[in-house]
Amino acid sequence: MSVLKLEHVSYRYAGTDKTILNDLNYTFEKGRVYSIVGRSGAGKTTLLSLLSGLAAPTDGKIYLEDKDINKIDKYEYRSKYVGVIFQSFNLLPKLTAMENVILSMDIAGKEYGDKKAHAMELLKKVSLGEEEASRRILKLSGGQQQRVAIARALSYNPEILLADEPTGNLDGETQAEIVKIFRQLAHEEGKCIILVTHSPEVAEASDIVYCL
Ligand SMILES: Nc1ncnc2c1ncn2[C@@H]1O[C@H](COP(=O)(O)OP(=O)(O)OP(=O)(O)O)[C@@H](O)[C@H]1O
Ligand SMILES: [Mg+2]
Repeated sequence: MSVLKLEHVSYRYAGTDKTILNDLNYTFEKGRVYSIVGRSGAGKTTLLSLLSGLAAPTDGKIYLEDKDINKIDKYEYRSKYVGVIFQSFNLLPKLTAMENVILSMDIAGKEYGDKKAHAMELLKKVSLGEEEASRRILKLSGGQQQRVAIARALSYNPEILLADEPTGNLDGETQAEIVKIFRQLAHEEGKCIILVTHSPEVAEASDIVYCL
């Protein structure tokens, strides 16, 4: 069964007359990696903002299992079901990697038992060690920051991960490592991973590609 489903979804920004997304009918399942590709301006980021509940379709509906996501409390949807990784990461630069992950756990308001141990477990999952975990974001490389952003998005254990250009400014080798993490999360932990990408390699390594 699909975890997310678009039914006749269209989108037009308020005050404009150009329809950016036109009658999309995509389905997304757990355990798979999806890539959304398309030229610049095709509406990829717009689609992610609809999937993350930041904006509502002008026409059509998006379902989480069988519920219309616009009928689910926005805050609950975003703090339980979807983890979002923005292109700019949105990490707090003066906090350490560990503190960034713990902050997100606190905001989601779930009970974790030993928070530090849980945060460390997530950071290890994205191949960051104790030393990097205790370093401030501004002293980590781009690829390491990307990993922290993934660990943070996983902090409340969402079923769905959305990422906008998650390998945009990484070298080929680091990109391959990040893609491997996404594939493991889908294939071993059953997450639904939805990536927006311009990279043919990332699209190639996905299970399903949707072209806008
Ligand atoms: N807030 C807005 N108001 C009006 N138009 C917008 C707004 N945000 C984006 N657009 C327009 O919507 C279209 C789709 O933008 P979007 O950012 O989704 O493209 P994209 O596929 O992510 O492109 P890129 O690959 O360059 O990131 C573009 O033509 C853009 O100019
Ligand atoms: Mg974009």
